[in-house]
Amino acid sequence: MKLKLFMILILMGLLMAFKGVKQHYWPNYFPEPVQARIQTTYTPEMRALGRVLFYDPILSADSSVSCASCHNPYTAFAHTDHALSHGIGDSIGKRNAPALFNLAWQSAFMLDGAVNHIEVQALAPLSASNEMAETLEHVLTKLNRLPRYQALCASIQQSKSISSSLFLKSLAAFVLSLNSFESKYDSVKRHQSTFTTQEAKGYEKFKQYCNACHAEPLFTNYTYQYNGLSLDPQYPDLGRYAISLNPKDSFAFKVPSLRNISYTYPYMHDGRYKTLQAVLNHYAEKQVSAKLNNNVTTVFPLSANDQLDIIAFLKTLNDVQFLFNKDNLFPNDKGNNP
Ligand code: HEC
Ligand code: HEC
Repeated sequence: MKLKLFMILILMGLLMAFKGVKQHYWPNYFPEPVQARIQTTYTPEMRALGRVLFYDPILSADSSVSCASCHNPYTAFAHTDHALSHGIGDSIGKRNAPALFNLAWQSAFMLDGAVNHIEVQALAPLSASNEMAETLEHVLTKLNRLPRYQALCASIQQSKSISSSLFLKSLAAFVLSLNSFESKYDSVKRHQSTFTTQEAKGYEKFKQYCNACHAEPLFTNYTYQYNGLSLDPQYPDLGRYAISLNPKDSFAFKVPSLRNISYTYPYMHDGRYKTLQAVLNHYAEKQVSAKLNNNVTTVFPLSANDQLDIIAFLKTLNDVQFLFNKDNLFPNDKGNNP
């Protein structure tokens, strides 16, 4: 009898532990994040360390550029106003710095999917000569001299020193924790709000023409597509082709999420469009070859009114709570809110 009771208690304990691991931090209309498992290996202290690192220009060779220099929290971690990213010594990068949020649903990173593990992603900007121009080894040496990093490391592990693995995991813990699902669209999904007539009309058009690639509720299907942009002879960028070497991927880029779209201008991989109206003009004029549907060409017969309606709908994807989420902003030395 006693043994039975004991077994039941153990089972209940296991069940609760399991539920703890599987705890949903995402809305019920979202799929499970592909990075959910790796996220269970991170602790709040690792995220705190990652947050301090993200905002610290010591990561660059001359201490002038931090991750946040190109990924500004107040613009959904994108680099507003700069078509192409600006790194150390004002050197110009090859692409527009993308917004960072809901990365836990992504299985590959960068606009061409060049990086397939989030825990090595940070090495790319760190070592790029036109971004931070540093080496991992030298950054770790610099960090290990500083008492604030020694204290942060001691809160995570026995040792006070930061290893390359802890450095990379902590940055991953921070960027994977940037969640955005508190927009008006989300409150409509939760039946807490309703669309205006114009937004509702725009939503219908959106589902008809845009959703195949910018799929709800994340507003991307994470595939690589060519969306009809004309080639820029000055900066030819082959996109996904450079990674897959499949000619079908020429000039294809990862379909970007359209959440927080008002803040992440300029648009496209090279930041060629400054306004949503310019983007809609592009789609209304161009025939977008949707490789998704076996190269079926999709035509977008969008009237001027349709375009305005779609823009009104796109604005419901802005998440102001995310932009001002204190837990994501510049931290104090302990990685907490100042
Ligand atoms: C000089 C500007 C610059 C700096 C500094 C920078 N980034 Fe980026 N970041 C970019 C650009 C540009 C891309 C897109 C690169 C590409 O597609 O090749 C990007 C892409 C990313 C991505 C992938 C996003 C996605 O949707 O796939 C992540 C994550 C990221 N950066 C995090 C960081 C972190 C962490 C740091 C600091 C260690 C950092 N970045 C520093 C410009 C920058
Ligand atoms: C065939 C797939 C596809 C369809 C259909 C599509 N898009 Fe896109 N969209 C893309 C890709 C790919 C990009 C990124 C291109 C680049 O970076 O060069 C993009 C970029 C964008 C951007 C810029 C995002 C940013 O952060 O830079 C906006 C806005 C946008 N699309 C809106 C729309 C709207 C509105 C529709 C419907 C009228 C639509 N798209 C239909 C694939 C598509």
